Amino acid sequence: MVGSSIAFLCAANAIDDIILLNRTKSKAIGEALDISNAIPKNSDITIKGTDDYSEISNSKIIVITASTGVYLKNRNEMIDAQVKMIRNIANEIKKNCKSPIVLIISNPVDVLTYFFIKETGFSRNNVIGIASALDSSRFRYLLSKKIGINQSQISDAFVLGEHGDSMVPVFSNTKIDGKNVLTIINSSQKIEITEEIRDYWKSLRNFKSRSQFGISKNTFDVIYSILNNQSLLSPTSILLEGEYNQKNVCMGVLTTIDSKGISKIHQSELDESEKKSLDHSAQIIRNNIESI
Ligand code: 2OP
Repeated sequence: MVGSSIAFLCAANAIDDIILLNRTKSKAIGEALDISNAIPKNSDITIKGTDDYSEISNSKIIVITASTGVYLKNRNEMIDAQVKMIRNIANEIKKNCKSPIVLIISNPVDVLTYFFIKETGFSRNNVIGIASALDSSRFRYLLSKKIGINQSQISDAFVLGEHGDSMVPVFSNTKIDGKNVLTIINSSQKIEITEEIRDYWKSLRNFKSRSQFGISKNTFDVIYSILNNQSLLSPTSILLEGEYNQKNVCMGVLTTIDSKGISKIHQSELDESEKKSLDHSAQIIRNNIESI
């Protein structure tokens, strides 16, 4: 449902022509028929469902939300099957598409982004894992609840590292009305918030069977910034080539996105414990990559 939610946002905002591609053609056609009624009346954009990769040969942006279809209790479960799936998709895209910007949503997102790049040889600026932005939305939401403030009072609250249990909320840069958050919350609140961000999707699933709208809006924002060449500062999972002293691993770091894809990788100032946690997070992802 994440793919169709992203398509719905793109259609309702008349962002550009849309193609929904699914291995089950009837599903893609059905979602497209439904979403086509959400296109604003002054817009000429189109939406179409298909199971044929040749139809996406001219796509500027490709968003991958596929999964093996099994209900996962852990993002790293079925990692072998998910990697096999992303490799097949990567090969189809390489065969059929010229030079798209690819957004990867499927989990485990850091590992799949890595394998997509390895399989296609596409530039690292054009293959972007989307998840840390969602974790950052959760960070802001939980901070605002815990402190009893509005989200708009929070700035620079970013989560880096793995989209998984080792993710790293960067408290040292986070500000409330311009004041460092660590002068406002104590260390046990910090630990509580960290655990709550990490487990957010599990609590969500106690109420509904999937995580859908948060990731969709965060993905839409990236699509919007690419198509309109409007700079967006957002943490994304990218292939690191020495940044943060890491190589040969994809993980969430702060980036600027525009029409070129990733146009800048920011080296966030971290405190010693955040640095250690980020190294640990990179190692967890690397272990998962090496396990394949
Ligand atoms: C999420 O964090 C499941 O990765 C998805 O909502």
